[in-house]
Amino acid sequence: MAEIMANVEVAPNIFRIKAAGSFAGRMGQFYMVRAWDKYPLLSRPLSIFDRDEAGIEFLYQVAGEGTKLISDLRPGDELQLEGPFGNGFPEVQASGRVALVGGGIGIAPLFYALRHYSSSDVYLGFSQEAYLAERFKAATTGMVLVNVGGIVLEQVDFHAYDTIIVCGPEPMLKAVQRKQLETGSSANVYVSLENRMACGIGACLVCSVKCKDKRRKACTDGPVFLAEEVVFG
Ligand SMILES: Cc1cc2nc3c(=O)[nH]c(=O)nc-3n(C[C@H](O)[C@H](O)[C@H](O)COP(=O)(O)OP(=O)(O)OC[C@H]3O[C@@H](n4cnc5c(N)ncnc54)[C@H](O)[C@@H]3O)c2cc1C
Ligand code: FES
Repeated sequence: MAEIMANVEVAPNIFRIKAAGSFAGRMGQFYMVRAWDKYPLLSRPLSIFDRDEAGIEFLYQVAGEGTKLISDLRPGDELQLEGPFGNGFPEVQASGRVALVGGGIGIAPLFYALRHYSSSDVYLGFSQEAYLAERFKAATTGMVLVNVGGIVLEQVDFHAYDTIIVCGPEPMLKAVQRKQLETGSSANVYVSLENRMACGIGACLVCSVKCKDKRRKACTDGPVFLAEEVVFG
């Protein structure tokens, strides 16, 4: 149990919650979060948005029942957190050119990635970007490009980077795979999947991902995969 320090609506339907305590976690990893006892049955996966000595932060969009219950929490209430889970983003050479690309609430794990890739370029495709864009700009020495209402992926030159990390809805991730093929880019392109999850620890197969060699689990083998590995539906 972790005590909530803040739970603020930063844009319509988008909340940032901070829970007090000492939490582990690498960039791109997630926690299974719940704010209820028995119902709904399952905890909900949320990516680490930021972390410091006081606590851990998540940025989340209210999508349904679970996230609505989380959004109703107030400072002093308690949040149940299990994690960190997942492989997280890869460590790359400091000299490499890195692009972080996020669509919609897929931008959530990218902020914490900037703690490591502090000179990377950031591409945000997000309709509620104002509050967040400033925070991203303060965290990188690279460029932050905000694309409102357009297709942010079109702005990314796949030949300009050694590593490209993309988080967003599945159509965006499919387009990433296509663009890598079409451009013949030699960059290492990674996608972070947001498959539905139940256990978060590799026990239930709900999060199964079809890859070129075999099926993998988004919760333990991922959520981060090389884009070229994944067979999208
Ligand atoms: C590894 C991982 C990290 C994530 N990180 C974040 C994050 O940082 N911030 C954030 O806002 N969200 C994140 N998500 C998505 C988040 O977990 C879901 O939005 C949440 O579980 C929905 O729960 P709910 O009870 O509010 O909605 P539900 O009542 O369960 O569902 C509401 C609607 O959303 C759809 N839905 C639910 N889960 C998903 C999903 N995974 N993909 C697509 N559609 C879905 C349902 O089909 C339904 O239409 C992440 C998901 C994964 C797998
Ligand atoms: S969520 Fe259960 S195996 Fe991945």
